[in-house]
Amino acid sequence: MKKFLSLVLALAMVLSLGAIAFADDVPNNEKPVIWFNRQPSNSTTGELDMDALTFNEKTYYVGFDAKQGAELQGQMIVDYLQAQDPAAVDRNGDGIIGYVLCIGDIGHNDSIARTRGARKALGTAVPDAAQGKTAIETIDDVDPTAVGTNLDGSSSYVQDGAITIGDKEFVVRELASQEMKNNAGATWDAPTAGTAIMTWSASFGDQIDVVVSNNDGMGMAVFNGWSKENGVPTFGYDANSDAVAAIADGYCGTISQNADVQAYLTLRVMRNALDDADIMTGISTPDAAGNVLSEDLYYYDEATRCFYALNGAVTADNYEAFLDATAPNAAFNNQLSEEDAATKKVWLDIFNSTDNFLNATYKPQLENYDGILNLDVEYIAGDGQTEANITDRLGNPGDYDGFAINMVKTDNAASYTSKLQ
Ligand code: BGC
Ligand code: CA
Repeated sequence: MKKFLSLVLALAMVLSLGAIAFADDVPNNEKPVIWFNRQPSNSTTGELDMDALTFNEKTYYVGFDAKQGAELQGQMIVDYLQAQDPAAVDRNGDGIIGYVLCIGDIGHNDSIARTRGARKALGTAVPDAAQGKTAIETIDDVDPTAVGTNLDGSSSYVQDGAITIGDKEFVVRELASQEMKNNAGATWDAPTAGTAIMTWSASFGDQIDVVVSNNDGMGMAVFNGWSKENGVPTFGYDANSDAVAAIADGYCGTISQNADVQAYLTLRVMRNALDDADIMTGISTPDAAGNVLSEDLYYYDEATRCFYALNGAVTADNYEAFLDATAPNAAFNNQLSEEDAATKKVWLDIFNSTDNFLNATYKPQLENYDGILNLDVEYIAGDGQTEANITDRLGNPGDYDGFAINMVKTDNAASYTSKLQ
């Protein structure tokens, strides 16, 4: 019996060694690399980092259409305002609809797009002089610079806009905006937004008629700390469950970036790359288990190897369908068989372990799909501040079959790919 047991043990060891050796067969620089949520790009100009996006033949990016989402957010705010009673929207009756804007990360394409989208829709946008723009055709032409405070409307980064509500014409003014970055360097920082609204409201609270936030984490900090109690319309982005639930209590609206679609795509593209399968398997064409994405949910830009989920507005009209942001989507939640897709090991990092959207919405969505795709994912939680905090935990790339990467800073792709050389 003892002999038999040691034989079994020896056999098990050989088998597991075999599995490790298998992962090692493929050179690290030929393994799939899927960038997600933070697109490799120049954080000043927004230009895509094509070296990172074409690191090898199995490199892709999965995100969402930042421009379409930003335009939707702007439109959602304007639609809301135009449906209000003109006698009530202007809280202090000064003829100005004053808003404050919480900016997530001044070097992040998604954040920049949202700042631009809100300004363009509200008429407060000016051409981005730093980019040599002299006119505004699309939101890309808009200056996204934070104004600090602009109570008198003299900032050169914005202008006063105008809006007609009912039979009344109002001026629209961006009273204040700032990047919500904490002392340690974490961006999109909700507590910083909670502090900012306290400072702003203490000095010009009655002038604030609307709060616009680049995301729900910051928007909810403002809502819970101030605007709920004061009945001030507040708008965010992401459609996290807590924000959607708050619509019942007066949070005005948010944008769903379809995290279910993005999480599935992140792991799906990984799966297809690992299997040397057509990259659109289980995406535009059903896989063996019947998983497929409907066309109106995403698009793929082959030239830049980027997949983008589309966005949808979530307001008082439709929020009930969005209450659980972590629910899997039945259209692509079917288990693959081990024969079709043998289990593979994936290294995946979330750049900031306190980011609301990534941890409350995106990660649970990844966890919905990792199992059905037979991916054994090791989730690495970053501190949101330095790349090294994360790349230090990419010490043994040979132990993994593929890498899904969420960077701290979008220009830092090389600090990851250098580990795979
Ligand atoms: C989300 C933000 C989040 C950021 C992190 C964005 O797409 O909207 O809420 O903080 O991603 O990179
Ligand atoms: Ca006012």
